[in-house]
Amino acid sequence: MSGMRPTGALHLGHYHGVLKNWVRLQNEYECFFSVVDWHALTTEYETPGKIEENVWEMVIDWLAVGINPGSAKLYIQSHIPEHAELHLLLSMITPQSWLERVPSYKEQQERLKDKDLTTYGFLGYPLLQTSDIIIFKAGYVPVGEDQVAHVEMAREVARRFNYLYGRDPGFEKKAEKAAKKMGKKNNRMYFELLKKYQEQGDSQALEKARAMVEAQQNISIGDRERLVGYLEGGGKMIFPEPQALLTVAPKMPGTDGQKMSKSYNNTISLREDSNNVEDKVRTMPTDPARVRRTDPGDPEKCPVWALHQVYSDDDLKNWAQAGCRSAGIGCLDCKKPLIDAILKEQAPIKERADEYLNDPETVREIIDEGCESARDMARETLVEVREAMGLDYD
Ligand code: TRP
Ligand code: SF4
Repeated sequence: MSGMRPTGALHLGHYHGVLKNWVRLQNEYECFFSVVDWHALTTEYETPGKIEENVWEMVIDWLAVGINPGSAKLYIQSHIPEHAELHLLLSMITPQSWLERVPSYKEQQERLKDKDLTTYGFLGYPLLQTSDIIIFKAGYVPVGEDQVAHVEMAREVARRFNYLYGRDPGFEKKAEKAAKKMGKKNNRMYFELLKKYQEQGDSQALEKARAMVEAQQNISIGDRERLVGYLEGGGKMIFPEPQALLTVAPKMPGTDGQKMSKSYNNTISLREDSNNVEDKVRTMPTDPARVRRTDPGDPEKCPVWALHQVYSDDDLKNWAQAGCRSAGIGCLDCKKPLIDAILKEQAPIKERADEYLNDPETVREIIDEGCESARDMARETLVEVREAMGLDYD
């Protein structure tokens, strides 16, 4: 399961960093890809009217790069009201401090200073993401480095939910009785360690408790097993703990050499007009030491070289290196093959995008189908959740 906020036209950074990976994964796993429009709303709540257009643009971008609705489910987050219900229920058991300590919370508030992000909704961003992920009981979440803390939050919340609502009451009584047989001190330590593991995910505490139980000579094998089993969950696991699946892709540089990102204003969009692509690359800054064509340069100091890392084979890279250092080529010569490579990469994407742009009906149908599958699954999970929490009364 993964998601993306509909914040505008996707760019080559999205393509190389995320989408190519999704296209590969869709053949290996049952995938859900979500247009997380509610997440967009956490920062764009003052201008919600822009979200709709971005939603459809993004879906077209996804389809254009080869996300195949035959294998992956594409859906819109806000069409699955179960996400909201789960988010609400999870909010009851999520300590506020867990949300406050997620690094992106303060970072984004700092970065987006022109927006007031002291809202309840923005604080809850990672919990809404948790609901996205665990409602499908997803095992893997393909994301970039910046999202790892959010997936970690999903793991912790899943664990806490299982701890609070997944236990079999009979089992608990038996474990408690067995623990008493270890003696007062061990009994107390056992439950302290168990709590540390279940509430904070402290796996060292789990190991310590297990070692302690296994070292007990004075209890029966049955009790020993019971105590170890109890440590490991000992009840029904309602939500499996998801794992981040990190994308290993070279950093996509923007036209200024920094990471390509809309907020740096250095992007080339997936369907960027060819003339713009040419202009953007031609005007990219180069090694400042190359003032004149005859001045030799150092590729390491040049953002254009970073782009060669993404697009060029060894021969071309050697040519650029040598030509730069000897002033054998000019910067425009060096940029030309990159412009060609980007245009070549974009051609089939633009072509496919045009087909969908001319056929909005089909796009709607794809999304409707994706939403239906997502919703079926989400409904099933909510039935289980309500039951586990004792909310399944009429
Ligand atoms: N927070 C993610 C981002 O900014 C988007 C997102 C929302 C997401 N829900 C998700 C990603 C669920 C993975 C899984 O990129
Ligand atoms: Fe950069 Fe290429 Fe110019 Fe060297 S020749 S400074 S690598 S653009």
